[in-house]
Amino acid sequence: MPRRDKVTVVGAGNVGATCAHWLVSKELADVVLVDIVEGMPQGKALDLMEATPVEDVDCKVIGSNGYDETAGSDVVIVTSGIPRKPGMSRDDLLATNKKIVGSVCSELKKSSPNACVIIVSNPLDAMCHVAKHASGFPKERVVGMAGILDTARFSTFISWETGASVKDVTAMVLGGHGDQMVPVVSHTAVGGVPLTKLASQEAIDAMVERTRKGGGELVGLLGTSAWYAPGAAAAQMVDSICLDQKRVLPCTALLEGEYGVDGLYMGVPVRLGAGGVEEIVKLKLSAAEKKMLRESAAAVREVVGVLTTTA
Ligand code: NAI
Repeated sequence: MPRRDKVTVVGAGNVGATCAHWLVSKELADVVLVDIVEGMPQGKALDLMEATPVEDVDCKVIGSNGYDETAGSDVVIVTSGIPRKPGMSRDDLLATNKKIVGSVCSELKKSSPNACVIIVSNPLDAMCHVAKHASGFPKERVVGMAGILDTARFSTFISWETGASVKDVTAMVLGGHGDQMVPVVSHTAVGGVPLTKLASQEAIDAMVERTRKGGGELVGLLGTSAWYAPGAAAAQMVDSICLDQKRVLPCTALLEGEYGVDGLYMGVPVRLGAGGVEEIVKLKLSAAEKKMLRESAAAVREVVGVLTTTA
């Protein structure tokens, strides 16, 4: 008998619980929510389960403080860790989240050895390295969520600027998940018309800048980092993996020579399917974009380098 996929979400805080909400609302998988806070994942799971009759969806949601219930998950989303507060950079979270993500991935390596792992915790690119190391999983099955979120922010601003539906915006944000991320204007269009034909250079520059600082803008407003769009972005990755859609999405993948970068996790377009990262798609970039990508890679390499010096 066919069974529904099983997805574990580790960290039942803002992003984790919201991601579970999106997954259940799409009737995509049975969900296990894991958190260290006693009662909280169980309570959120029960609450979400009790929404299923209203939403007319048929998924099981359970909460746990351990990993027994997560056994044999197809996908695990790691959102455990501290978020930013105003004035903090993502890199300020490194030492704390390294320990959390490392211990979580050591657990899920035992309980779900065949899972595809989606990392959400920040600093994202560095946490992908931690997860890859702690799990020992092949690079295809350790992937980070950042590009879909950053691209969604860019697309929102483009839709406002041009008056077009968000559905007609095609965009791509690559590079590290930091202020040096690279919105790829040369591959951005609205209904097939290049963005450069629809908006002034000044307006494009402003949208690029707002996208790069998009996470910080929300931290300033909310006092913590965002969760609706991050949760939706992680759920879209689950969608593509569980339904083997093989969508081309900007995700954080381990590069081994692609885009001139070796041995580093960074945001690039990937084909995401049942096997995880099935291909790294090579885009033709302008000279300016290539330069920005190199600068972004250097910034990521600096943070990843700090990993080896933190206990
Ligand atoms: P939150 O504080 O609301 O939730 C984090 C949860 O992790 C808490 O409930 C906490 O109890 C739990 N946790 C801590 N240690 C754990 C462990 N060892 N095992 C299981 N659970 C544990 O934080 P929020 O807003 O959900 O953010 C989570 C992470 O996601 C942060 O690091 C944040 O910076 C990152 N983030 C990344 C984004 C991206 O684009 N990649 C976007 C938004 C947030």
